[in-house]
Amino acid sequence: MADKLTSKRITAVRDSQRGFWNFLTHADSAKRRKQPGALDFSLGNPHEMPPKGYVETLKKWTEPRHPRWFNYVTNDPGAQAAVAAALRAWRGIPFEPADIAMTTGAFGAIAAALHALVDPGQEVIFSLPPWFNYESMIVAVGGVPVKVRVDPASFDLDLGAIAAAITPRTRMVIVNTPNNPTGKIYPPETLQGLADLLTRASAEHGRPIYILSDEPYSRLVFDAKPLHSPTAYYPNTLLAYSYGKTLLTPGERIGYLALAPSMPGREVVRESITLAQIVCGFAFPNAILQYAIGDLETLSIDLDHLQRKRDRLLEGLRAAGYDVHRPEGTFFLLPKSPIEDDRRFCELLAEDDVFVLPGSICEIPGYFRIAFTATDEMIERALPKFAATMARVTNRPGAARPG
Ligand SMILES: Cc1ncc(COP(=O)(O)O)c(C=O)c1O
Repeated sequence: MADKLTSKRITAVRDSQRGFWNFLTHADSAKRRKQPGALDFSLGNPHEMPPKGYVETLKKWTEPRHPRWFNYVTNDPGAQAAVAAALRAWRGIPFEPADIAMTTGAFGAIAAALHALVDPGQEVIFSLPPWFNYESMIVAVGGVPVKVRVDPASFDLDLGAIAAAITPRTRMVIVNTPNNPTGKIYPPETLQGLADLLTRASAEHGRPIYILSDEPYSRLVFDAKPLHSPTAYYPNTLLAYSYGKTLLTPGERIGYLALAPSMPGREVVRESITLAQIVCGFAFPNAILQYAIGDLETLSIDLDHLQRKRDRLLEGLRAAGYDVHRPEGTFFLLPKSPIEDDRRFCELLAEDDVFVLPGSICEIPGYFRIAFTATDEMIERALPKFAATMARVTNRPGAARPG
């Protein structure tokens, strides 16, 4: 029926969502997760007030300074300059202000890159487990999603699998580091290997294969680990970033798409990105957020606190018998489900008002994802419930459901 009422393209998008849309909107847990007292670890939403200075900054930049304050704004030159300066200082790469497209978060950056660079029928490779929206965003531009698995032992990119997936129709490879949901930061050797591979394949096929480096968690890195970005290894890279993670304000839509300064023909790419954003509904962040970005650049959630929450959960889950690796970045843990059917295990947790994301939804069945944007209090309340549900499925003593 839906295909009679709406476009085939959006029907294909719905089909490609693989349960996430259902989880978000229709599943029984969708309503229960929002009830007071529910322990909702399913998505990276805030559970605490925004970082100090956030609201003051927005108030400061809301006050108009001249009559054109609320004009149409595509890329505000001040915002582009502030982002380029921050990237230069942080990454040591000479990003240019004109190569920064201001976007509605990483979502907007990914959409703009796909619309600007990918033709119908062209292939876009990404690694599993992925962020659950890549596939539908590729389908939305008529692109063909091509999936390869990461190395299951290390969660590192499998360069052999990527090489085998490349064809003359390959246009783009999406790399997400630090990775949602594995928390992996890809090491320099992997990124260099990928760059070499794509340089050879681009030359062979006579047109560039781009890397879209999706890095919204690049500032949420633990144990002072260095971040490595494909922008430092491969000239045809576009960097997608969102402030929604660092500031934990995903409802305030701002981010950017930055072209590596060594990208050939980037003047043409720049313009195509702006045009893509216009036809996607003037998809630029609102003016106030753009004016504020120089100040917002200096703010962050408390990274030490985030790391303590990761460590507390790791300790508690491992003590309860969960097999869970230590993520290097992001705010996600990816424990193994103690029973094969991860959806069923998540339902059992939900019976005790603990809501997590089944791994099947991000194409890693047998696991589940915990977002630790939750408060300390939520974590402490949830840990005994995680332990009881583990005991329940393994028939260990203490398997009674907690009250
Ligand atoms: C890997 C990844 N990319 C992109 C996004 C989109 O970020 P935003 O909603 O801040 O635009 C997310 C959000 O969860 C993500 O996890």
